[in-house]
Amino acid sequence: MARLKVGVLISGRGSNLQALIDAAADPAYPAEIAVVISNRRDAAGLARAAAAGIPHIVAPETDRAAFAAAADRALRDAGVGLVALAGFMRLLDEGFVAAWTDRLVNIHPSLLPAFPGLHAQRQALAAGVKFSGCTVHFVRAAVDTGPIIAQAVVAVADGDDEARLADRILAAEHRLYPLAVRLFAEGRLRIVGNQVAVAGGAAPALAALNPSETLT
Ligand code: GAR
Repeated sequence: MARLKVGVLISGRGSNLQALIDAAADPAYPAEIAVVISNRRDAAGLARAAAAGIPHIVAPETDRAAFAAAADRALRDAGVGLVALAGFMRLLDEGFVAAWTDRLVNIHPSLLPAFPGLHAQRQALAAGVKFSGCTVHFVRAAVDTGPIIAQAVVAVADGDDEARLADRILAAEHRLYPLAVRLFAEGRLRIVGNQVAVAGGAAPALAALNPSETLT
C-alpha cells in the first residue's frame, strides 16, 4: 500500500524530524517523509534531511504570508497528506492553518493545555509541577491549541534543571511523534469537537504517583 507522504516543518536541531526519519526507515511504517521545509537557512535539521536523501527547502523568512505560500506550494508539489511541525518556532499564517486543518499536527514539550508557548520546561519547573511531558495535537489558529492526539508523561525529579528535564521530555517526544503520525496514517484518528478518538487505543491501567509510594 502507498505510504502517507508527510511534510515536516523545522526551525532548528531537528531531532524530532530524525525520529520520524528513523521510524519511516522501516518499510512497514505507514508514512514517509516527502519534504522538509525550514524557515531558517542554518537549521541543523536540514543536514538530517540531506543525509536521508529527502528533498528540503528553505522558505523566505521575510514575511509570514510569503513563507506560507512557499511552504504550501512545496507541500502540494510533494503530494503531502500530513504536515508535521517539529520544532517549528514561528507563528503560521492563519490561511495556511485553515487550508491544512485536520492535516496539520504539532509536538510541544508540555502536557497541554499547561505551559503553551516558549520555554515550556522552564514554565513547568517554575510552577512546581511533579509531572510534565509532551503533547502531539492537531493545530488550530491559537498557539499550541487544538485537539490532542497523544501525550507522554515525564516525572519531574527533585533538583531538575531546565536542560535535564528537557532532555527527558525530548526522549519521550521521539517515541510519541512517530506513534501519533502512525495513528494518523492508519486512519485511526477521529476528531469530535476538541477531542480525538483513537480507534483501537487503550488507556494504561495504572496511574503514577510522584513521588513514588515506595519512598526510600
Ligand atoms: C522540541 O522539544 C519541541 O517539542 C519543541 O522544540 C523542540 C525542537 O527540538 N517545540 C516547541 O516548543 C513548539 N512550541 P528538535 O528541533 O530537536 O525536534
